[in-house]
Amino acid sequence: MSRRPIIAANWKMHKGPAEATEFIDEFENLIGGSSAVDIVISPAFVALGAAKGALANSDTTGLAAQNCHFEEKGAFTGEVSIGMLTEIGVDYVIIGHSERRSIFGEDDAIINAKAKALHAAGVKPIICIGETLEEREGGQLEAVLRRQLEVGLEGLSADKMAEAVIAYEPVWAIGTGKTAGPDEAQEAHAFVRKVLGELFGEEVAAKIRIQYGGSVKPANTAELMAQPDVDGALVGGASLEPGSFSEICKNAG
Ligand code: PGA
Repeated sequence: MSRRPIIAANWKMHKGPAEATEFIDEFENLIGGSSAVDIVISPAFVALGAAKGALANSDTTGLAAQNCHFEEKGAFTGEVSIGMLTEIGVDYVIIGHSERRSIFGEDDAIINAKAKALHAAGVKPIICIGETLEEREGGQLEAVLRRQLEVGLEGLSADKMAEAVIAYEPVWAIGTGKTAGPDEAQEAHAFVRKVLGELFGEEVAAKIRIQYGGSVKPANTAELMAQPDVDGALVGGASLEPGSFSEICKNAG
């Protein structure tokens, strides 16, 4: 089963509309019109419209939002609905990022509601999971990943899951400069795919792309991507510069 790699930039709370446009113009020049991997850029909500405009002629790069609400509309001050995002033309929405979980109190049930709403709207989720250092050192790695998958993906259709993306991001590797070694990443990814097989069947599990995230940079991309169950990367810090993000995309191909 060959899965086309997918590399996503997660800009977090960086870059407004002007900087997003400037980045995309430079990045698209560096990428040069074709790529061996799917590329996705995830700006802040307020920069999505400008980014979509800047990507209008791109054959290589899609657009993601970093979050969404699961309700269609209503009294949810400060929130953004999936309908608003599809109006702009996003292809993916990242849900369950560890910063959403730890800083904003999102749990697996909320992430499940978002995943269901995205599937209903025909938007592909990038569903983030991952353990803390404490959980890993306490021997909880598999139990945590299993719970995040079982609860977070509960009731989702196998059909739509084939198109979804899972991002395995060990929390201790995010923004810390510590990366899971290629073997550690492969071991976790293989376990994630095994659980996906139990939930959705082997055939679907073999189609789901599983990204690694946590201090991915140009220098460690190729060795991570060489692992059989690593199908891409979710990149934070190193996605903020067009040079380093384009190198990551090239090294992943
Ligand atoms: P990082 O972030 O690449 O800066 O570690 C990854 C992420 O949080 O998605």
